Amino acid sequence: MKDFKYYAPTEVAFGQQAEEQVAPLIRKYGGTKVLVHYGGRSAERSGLLDKICNLLSQDGIPFVKLGGVVPNPRLSLARQGIELCRQEGIDFILAVGGGSVIDSAKCIAYGVCMDEDVWNLYLGKTEVPKTMLPVACVLTIPAAGSEMSEASVITNEDGGVKLGYSNNLSRPKFAIMNPCRTFTLPPYQTAAGVTDMMMHTMERYFTIDDDMDLTTDIAEAMLRSMMNAVFAVLKNPEDYRYRAQIMWGGSLMHNGLTGCGVQDDWATHQLEHELSGMFDVTHGAGLAAVWPSWARYVMHQNLSRFVRFAVNVMQVPNDFTDPEATALRGIEAMERFYHAIGMPVNIKELIGRDITDEEIQEMVRKCSRDYTATCGALKVLNAQDMEQIYKMARG
Ligand code: NZQ
Ligand code: ZN
Repeated sequence: MKDFKYYAPTEVAFGQQAEEQVAPLIRKYGGTKVLVHYGGRSAERSGLLDKICNLLSQDGIPFVKLGGVVPNPRLSLARQGIELCRQEGIDFILAVGGGSVIDSAKCIAYGVCMDEDVWNLYLGKTEVPKTMLPVACVLTIPAAGSEMSEASVITNEDGGVKLGYSNNLSRPKFAIMNPCRTFTLPPYQTAAGVTDMMMHTMERYFTIDDDMDLTTDIAEAMLRSMMNAVFAVLKNPEDYRYRAQIMWGGSLMHNGLTGCGVQDDWATHQLEHELSGMFDVTHGAGLAAVWPSWARYVMHQNLSRFVRFAVNVMQVPNDFTDPEATALRGIEAMERFYHAIGMPVNIKELIGRDITDEEIQEMVRKCSRDYTATCGALKVLNAQDMEQIYKMARG
């Protein structure tokens, strides 16, 4: 069993009035002047942004606002944010939104404390930072899990390059989660969010080290819960009970809990980041388009895991005489689940047209860092493997 560290320092305030706690929480974590960072229009439309700003004003906490974060958040806005924080003497960043806003906030928080361009961090061309501004969030979409994670993912528009950087320093100080704030999510974002959070656990579940039964059992229970909950909220978007399961599930599925004692994989994520870097698609939908092909390509590395997934998660009957057939039926059941919640199962369904060979080559080049890097752990994928998987996924 793999040794592990479990570090989940984020304070969570969860419930229907959770945002009322924003000002005392900022004070608790040392904020004296705040950048309130947000996305497009959803937080304005719902009144959440005004509410947060009023709560800060009432408590006498000065703040500056910076909106405009788009899904697959852009480096250029983060650079603007870094300048703004320096000019204004900001010492705390509050993200109001989803993974894109939180990741942009993390990028700004690193950059303010660096004396070189923040992109070097994502390129792995600089020293590991020892400090950054504190980040916290008011979450509006359960999906990326960034509210408790150590990761941030940024897209450089110059070349459409999407890269992640992970450091425990960036785990948010606190995360405010009010499930009512997710009632306004469109069905597509709801489904893509659940697909993403499930994948965060599946990236850790499909492993060679299968000694850690407790982690596996927790993972299977969470996957079943999310599949159950997503149908309930697609039917009734204001179902508090199931919106709450999903909101908390999104955090638990990416805060390290489902990775304790196992070797994680992340190949599906890396293959997907090239899709969202090139086509600006929704991350969760991109994962659904890649995973079935990845699964078919690698399943023989640990067939019994795929059988276990088929039976315990997808509720497929176990054909004890033919484990490969059972494993394949599990993958097919996952494809039916994706279709049932409005997700694609291949790239054609994702982007609405055939992907070209040139586009596949470009994604392989980027994903393999100019043919120098591999990805994945269950099966270590080189550039040829990546190409095969993208071709299988083209649809
Ligand atoms: O911009 P607004 O108007 O707010 O609209 C957003 C956006 O269009 C909308 N939305 C958010 N809350 C809403 C709402 N609409 C109605 N009602 C609400 N309450 O939803 C859209 C998607 O938002 P976004 O923040 O992009 O979603 P998500 O949380 O899925 O974040 C995706 C980003 O996170 C990265 C992904 O790669 C992608 O860039 N990831 C970050 C990770 C991390 N930091 O640990 C891990 C993940 O694997 C992922 O890679
Ligand atoms: Zn993800």
